[in-house]
Amino acid sequence: MRRDPHSYNDDTQAETASIALTARVDFAARVLHAEAELTFEQPGAGTLDLDTRDLHIERVSDSHGATLPFTLHPAEPFLGARLSIELPPDTRSIRIAYRTSPDASALQWLEPAQTMGGKHPYLFSQCQACHARSIIPLQDTPRLRIRYTAELAVPKALKVVMAAADRGRTETGESATERWEMPQPIPPYLFAFAIGDLASRDLSPRCRVWAEPGQVEAAAYEFADVEAMIHAAEALFGPYDWERFDILTMPPSFPYGGMENPRLTFITPTVIAGDRSLVSVIAHELAHSWTGNLVTNANGEHFWLNEGFTMYAERRITEALEGADMASLSAALGRRELDESIARFKDRPQMTRLRVPMQGVDPDDAYSLVPYEKGYFFLAAIEAAVGRAAFEAWLKTYLRDFRFGAITTEDFERHIEAGLPGALAKVDARTWIDGEGVPAAAAPPRSARLDAIEALGGAAPPAEVASTWNATEWNLYLETIARPAPHDLLNTLEARFHLTQSNNYDVLVAWLALCLQSGYHAVLSRVDQVLAGVGRMKYLRPLYTALAKHPGTRERARVTYERLRAGYHPIARQMVESVLREHA
Ligand code: BES
Ligand code: ZN
Repeated sequence: MRRDPHSYNDDTQAETASIALTARVDFAARVLHAEAELTFEQPGAGTLDLDTRDLHIERVSDSHGATLPFTLHPAEPFLGARLSIELPPDTRSIRIAYRTSPDASALQWLEPAQTMGGKHPYLFSQCQACHARSIIPLQDTPRLRIRYTAELAVPKALKVVMAAADRGRTETGESATERWEMPQPIPPYLFAFAIGDLASRDLSPRCRVWAEPGQVEAAAYEFADVEAMIHAAEALFGPYDWERFDILTMPPSFPYGGMENPRLTFITPTVIAGDRSLVSVIAHELAHSWTGNLVTNANGEHFWLNEGFTMYAERRITEALEGADMASLSAALGRRELDESIARFKDRPQMTRLRVPMQGVDPDDAYSLVPYEKGYFFLAAIEAAVGRAAFEAWLKTYLRDFRFGAITTEDFERHIEAGLPGALAKVDARTWIDGEGVPAAAAPPRSARLDAIEALGGAAPPAEVASTWNATEWNLYLETIARPAPHDLLNTLEARFHLTQSNNYDVLVAWLALCLQSGYHAVLSRVDQVLAGVGRMKYLRPLYTALAKHPGTRERARVTYERLRAGYHPIARQMVESVLREHA
């Protein structure tokens, strides 16, 4: 039976325990020439269905080298092509020789000109939600965990980093071979690597930051407090189980803020604001080391278990390091963003349930902050109902009992009902889990600092007031301004605070979106600069949406996108194209 709407995996078939990958990375052809050996938990027989996308399968053989028959079925949207292999009795492992496509959805190949140094090409992977299958033929469902080894051959000038343990590098002629091993079992979406001109700085015995040489000092400064974060997280959630917590500062086209690849978190360079003001993204990815990477959603219908728990854990880390005030401002902003995301789904309200029906739905299309923030507010409601001490005690047992597992919403419900009897009923969990939108009973978070912002009623704050604001407060303030905003207000804000020149992307993009929604076109060249310089979807989406919605800039949105399309990540392209289609 298929238990994951985003995988061909059949739970009656052999299950992969480990993968040994060898690959030669061809930057000129944008192809990996690879072989994957899949070793099963138990010797298998009969049909084995694997997930693939845009892979060219050359040969399948058993451990003795005998060729095995296979069928590569026609590709289906977002699922890719099912690869069916016939296993002889008692098959312990198989080998698949194949090559990837230059259009592999998990890979972005960068020309030297798209890097900071400008001299070397760069390649990185992004497998979540279901793109690992465009790199390796495998059972691409988070329900099944695998260990792996990888041996990558690359041009000698380049360094490989992986979300795994370093097992050494050898150089022969013009190429280098790097060996990596992932000792902890992971769901396939956490397979990750990057290749480029990379340098590193140690931040602590278990934390190292990687970046292009020109950015490594700035990254080391920005992320210097990461060890303190790990300490705070361990005090809250138990020992850190992944040995190392390294950080890779990505090229600007990285489509996400961060990706919790185990042992090596990937982070957008837009987090480097110069003042450590955006490091909550690090807290978030670190929190996934418990919520998500240790306890994983069994499939995309239960994604809130990953992201909702992680928002809760992120805000607990923020509270421990920066105080309850900051955590509550972050929650207040989260509530605004939740209401906005729910509004965006007005034609597909079922996407705003916590347990989302995903049959036939592309997870990249369904991606939004709803599982994050609705999940957070659901857990916060339970915590408020039972008290923090009881909730924390239960959370520890949840993390312990499901460690290195993959669970569904039903597993969560059974577990919390046993540990905190009656808690689900108290918060009316049914409306949260299977209802749409936010339950009416969920009151938005309040705090004195939020009250002060709202008391302005959208009027420009005095300089001495705003000088104490952090990025979250600026965001909350900008959100209170009704659109379209009067141009004299925007002129005043610009004269007083020079927001168009802000280096803090969270503030800058919120400001630029407000300006575009108000027909204030003095900012257009700065908007172009952001769209050309950054591929993070959190910023592309509001800017392209605002451009495309306004009749005066709609054509500009299309032309700008055509010009910049080649530099965007495949997932970001898909998102921008859907925005432009919607507002055509
Ligand atoms: N795991 C996600 C990113 C992701 C989700 C990639 C789904 C692909 C599919 C990561 O942990 C995340 O949530 N990133 C956020 C960071 C934020 C909430 C602090 C992002 O990218 O904006
Ligand atoms: Zn996350």
